[in-house]
Amino acid sequence: MRKKIVAGNWKMNLNLQEGVALATELKAALAADAPNCDVVICTPFIHLATVAGVVEGTVIGLGAENCADKEKGAYTGEVSAAQVKSTGAQYVILGHSERRAYYGETAEILKEKVNLALANGLKVIFCIGEVLEEREAGKQNEVVGAQLAGSLYDLTAEQMKNIILAYEPVWAIGTGKTATSDQAQDMHAFIRGEICKKFGAEVAEQTSILYGGSCKPSNAKDIFSKPDVDGGLIGGAALKCADFKGIIDAWKA
Ligand code: 13P
Repeated sequence: MRKKIVAGNWKMNLNLQEGVALATELKAALAADAPNCDVVICTPFIHLATVAGVVEGTVIGLGAENCADKEKGAYTGEVSAAQVKSTGAQYVILGHSERRAYYGETAEILKEKVNLALANGLKVIFCIGEVLEEREAGKQNEVVGAQLAGSLYDLTAEQMKNIILAYEPVWAIGTGKTATSDQAQDMHAFIRGEICKKFGAEVAEQTSILYGGSCKPSNAKDIFSKPDVDGGLIGGAALKCADFKGIIDAWKA
């Protein structure tokens, strides 16, 4: 059985005190009403060590939103996978479309990041997804297939077990325009098929594939009801405890 996961991506929001307050509120909410899925919050680097103390011993997992493509050394301002791991975090988001679009992260750079994250014992939430023009041209499968192949296909089947995929159509991120549950299912099934071809049926069946893009309490249940959708990667709605909890609760009957 593959894992059902709801992960929050705080992006560049919340100062340290606000982040600690949100994590503390979420911890209380999930202690009072245990989730039916894995829950992860991915925070800015500066929050990690402090939030790790808040969520320690709870059901809440912790991740970073990025890490460096170099192991260590003279890379001013960068944060390595080993440094992320040393905060107590267990996850790292890599390949987010905002990193690809605004910071020039190529498939090759992401391959390095994935390798370093895995080598340092982090689980990777690897994001893929097409932009609007690509979808309008019917090229979404080609684009997503190339993103998978470009950064993940040198991994072994064993390493793939530490990869969670997140399909985030760029046109749905922060726009209020979600993919329909059928669009999500079609893409997730395609992705699982590609993983099956490359890594075999066992890995494909075990790989959690999350949907991301304007996911809210009001649409999460419909999206999560699809057989190949194993949860969500949540941006805006992860910044309010009640909204994030509402999405987590979409996994309840
Ligand atoms: P929104 O939920 O704000 O659309 O963001 C999705 C996302 O990019 C998560 O990584």
